[in-house]
Amino acid sequence: MASIEKLMDKLVSLCKRRGFIFQSSEIYGGLNSCYDYGPLGVELKRNIKDFWWKAMVQSRDDIEGLDASILMHPRIWEASGHVANFTDPMVDCKECKARFRADQVEGAMCGSPAYKGRKASKCATEGKFTEARMFNLMFKTFMGPVEDAANVVYLRPETAQGIYVNVYNVMQASRQKIPFGIAQIGKAFRNEITPGNFTFRTREFEQMEMQFFVKPGSDMEWFEYWKAQRIAWYDGLGIRKSKLRFHQHGPTELAHYAAAAFDIEYEFPFDWKELEGVHNRTDFDLKRHTEYSGKDLSYFDDTTREKYIPYIIETSAGCDRTVLTALIDAYDEDVIEGEPRTVLRLAPAIAPIKAGVFPLVKKDGMPEVATKIYQEVRRRFNTFYDDGGAIGRRYRRMDEAGTPFGITVDGQTLKDQTVTVRERDSLVQTRVAADQVVPFMEGKMAAYRRGE
Ligand code: GAP
Repeated sequence: MASIEKLMDKLVSLCKRRGFIFQSSEIYGGLNSCYDYGPLGVELKRNIKDFWWKAMVQSRDDIEGLDASILMHPRIWEASGHVANFTDPMVDCKECKARFRADQVEGAMCGSPAYKGRKASKCATEGKFTEARMFNLMFKTFMGPVEDAANVVYLRPETAQGIYVNVYNVMQASRQKIPFGIAQIGKAFRNEITPGNFTFRTREFEQMEMQFFVKPGSDMEWFEYWKAQRIAWYDGLGIRKSKLRFHQHGPTELAHYAAAAFDIEYEFPFDWKELEGVHNRTDFDLKRHTEYSGKDLSYFDDTTREKYIPYIIETSAGCDRTVLTALIDAYDEDVIEGEPRTVLRLAPAIAPIKAGVFPLVKKDGMPEVATKIYQEVRRRFNTFYDDGGAIGRRYRRMDEAGTPFGITVDGQTLKDQTVTVRERDSLVQTRVAADQVVPFMEGKMAAYRRGE
């Protein structure tokens, strides 16, 4: 395994070289904290979103999907508390104008490496900070051609509110009853003062959020249920268990809306950090939207004849942060037959490419047979055909992309229609009948378990 200090540098370089993640607007010098997903990155991200959607929506009868708009009525952000409370205290160095989150300034010298989330700068001015000012993290823009206060709208800082304001639209359309949930994947925007650590904290990111509506009094039971479900999901995603833990929010950390909150944390190379939040939001949200919209958002249970404002248990995961976690957790280096190798041990379910198909040599009819197998396998899995260079180098290229299987057509294939299937992690090579490659891969994928 790469040393912890170097791991992030190596990963950032691999992401660029292999087309996982690029700096946004790179030819213009880049746009701070914005990133673009390249050909492999977009597949990985899509697979992670599908994995979440399958677990949270398609395999359940009690959760429905939603895709709400990013721009919403500005009163929503007053009701949610974001206009008044979604702020960070900010200070500026009077000398070099660098900006910090006041709660992250640990020393009294600008440029100190002690300032979390920011590299040391050349400025070493002592104690010359402005007074802390509150800075609202929501991005503002204007709806329509007139740029005045009456036309201000916000880019949503979380997807959750789009769910709350649609709760009864979804409930009625899908004939759900409480307890039930609504799930959504979508972009969110926060004008973070100190973004950083590659895609860990950015100003534009995607969330995968689920809001589960329950009867008051049953909320803590559901809260415990969702905590267990969500940590198990990361296990299925192939993240090592030893790198995950819960962190309970103490009274000073609890958000204004929450009665209880746990973060699922991952041990990133830079520290244990939040990957997902599981929150008991009480009836705060629906009460506030009732108050601000004038629409009664209480629920009437026609079996028990009770009327109440539902409590909400929220599971809120960052999609980009999960992609980063999957990459960090998968990154490994080893030595194979005296040659160093970089390998991404991604779970096959989320690997961007599932199989590489290789003719051993570019002659004797091998490319023709390999192309036929490639066409077959790609009908089921995202597959890559490669006939360039020594076979060992082709394997290495696929190892670095996280591809779990390598299918090689060799001299024996021409005699008995079998191929070798090489497994990325164990390096075991199995001879499999060419027409059985897909079921062979399916069996291996179903049995996959990530080792510690
Ligand atoms: N609706 C609740 C909510 O938004 P949050 O803890 O502020 O809760 C949830 O955000 C998740 O969204 C975080 O655990 C993280 O994974 C992701 N997230 C939040 N801010 C982010 C940022 N600036 N960049 C990348 N991901 C972020």
